[in-house]
Amino acid sequence: MSIRTETINGVARIEIARPEKKNAITAAMYQAMADGIAAAHDDGSVRAILIHGQKDIFTAGNDLEDFMNNPPAGMDAPVFRFMQALGYSEKPVVAAVNGAAVGIGTTMLMHCDLVYCADNAMFSMPFVSLGLCSEFASSLLVAMNAGYHKAVEKLLLADPISAEEASEMKIVNRILPPSEVLDYAVRQAERFNKLPPASVRETKRLMKASWKSITEKIIVDEAKSFGAMLLKPEAKEAFTAFYERRTPDFSRFS
Ligand code: COA
Repeated sequence: MSIRTETINGVARIEIARPEKKNAITAAMYQAMADGIAAAHDDGSVRAILIHGQKDIFTAGNDLEDFMNNPPAGMDAPVFRFMQALGYSEKPVVAAVNGAAVGIGTTMLMHCDLVYCADNAMFSMPFVSLGLCSEFASSLLVAMNAGYHKAVEKLLLADPISAEEASEMKIVNRILPPSEVLDYAVRQAERFNKLPPASVRETKRLMKASWKSITEKIIVDEAKSFGAMLLKPEAKEAFTAFYERRTPDFSRFS
């Protein structure tokens, strides 16, 4: 299993631990992360959840091979279970990002509550370059944080985002040296140990309430398009090109 979970001092840590594949996430790993969040909820001693990778990688996003061979089937697929567990988490979720955060690696941050990143972090949402479309409400949330025109650069042109730009786009709270990010994120997560948990939960619910119903509709809409596009020849060309280490050729598509 490439997900490690451990609860230390009130913080349920979920580590994406598959560095040999740049922490690319398989269906089994999504399920393990969903289970980790559910367990953190059921454990009264847990006050916050922390998601992290290692010093040089957060995640390369969906495992492309697993994605091609086992495309997510409906809203019950492990990736949806994970994103639902994250999106509906009543307890605060902190993320510590080092290195690349590709695709869902960036999308998931928009559903976390506090995001700390290293100065070596590099975010990207290359869904269009992969013949796919935006996911889990990123069509709205990127524009909501950074403005529509910036969102077009990041979602339509799939421009990568440096740590500094991520801070300007308001998708991270603070940039730190790579060796300090995890410790800092842990300390921030531990601060919830000193706060009344019901107040934290209720304030988080109220803060998200106004856009929750809108994002729920967008997520369903995006999931339908994403699922259909995953089976199209454009995505096949993009995924094959990645494994053949070449630039995809979309010239034959209209
Ligand atoms: N799915 C499956 N395997 C992946 C992967 C992914 N998303 N990302 C990386 N890997 C694998 C590579 O195939 C390679 O495996 P190998 O050693 O067996 O050949 C290994 O991880 C190392 O990847 P590599 O590309 O050599 O590392 P890098 O440091 O040069 O680049 C990234 C790192 C993350 C920038 C690059 O791997 C990348 O762009 N990955 C794809 C990201 C992506 O498109 N994600 C899907 C979003 S929906």
